[in-house]
Amino acid sequence: MKVVIVFESTHHGNTKKLVDDIATKNEVDLVDATEVNSVNYESYDIIGFASGVAFGKFYKKITSLAQSVPSGKKVFFIYSCGKNNKDFSQNICTALEGRGCVSLGSYGCSGYDTYGPLKLVGGINKGHPDESEVRGAVDFYISLL
Ligand SMILES: Cc1cc2nc3c(=O)[nH]c(=O)nc-3n(C[C@H](O)[C@H](O)[C@H](O)COP(=O)(O)O)c2cc1C
Repeated sequence: MKVVIVFESTHHGNTKKLVDDIATKNEVDLVDATEVNSVNYESYDIIGFASGVAFGKFYKKITSLAQSVPSGKKVFFIYSCGKNNKDFSQNICTALEGRGCVSLGSYGCSGYDTYGPLKLVGGINKGHPDESEVRGAVDFYISLL
């Protein structure tokens, strides 16, 4: 099974913490969405998308790169967010399923957030993702294989 995770982690590197640990412990290719204009999805059996959340959705570049995943591919989602109270992968997941992809599931956790006025109070979720949240992402990944 060849796996790639395309990630975008521009706010504080929170989501990158999750995918870096997955990649340290597993054979998986990582692609930084901010450094590419396309991904050769054909050569992978499973494709993961990992992102911070902005305005309730995965970041724009990752959403745009996800638009060219071929039909029939297995996909999964990982995210970190300021307020972990819903599944923020729903939008991107619905779009991919609409094009014939099969979702294996999603993992989300909290991430350090200093957006807007939160900056004035030093941000929220300092220290997150923490060790157990990172372990949770690795366990989620292993459960997919
Ligand atoms: C412009 C912007 C908008 C955000 N919007 C949301 C949001 O709608 N919901 C939420 O839970 N977190 C939101 N956040 C917080 C980030 O999702 C959170 O800090 C995340 O862990 C950042 O991940 P990253 O460091 O991998 O980019 C927002 C952050 C930024 C910078």
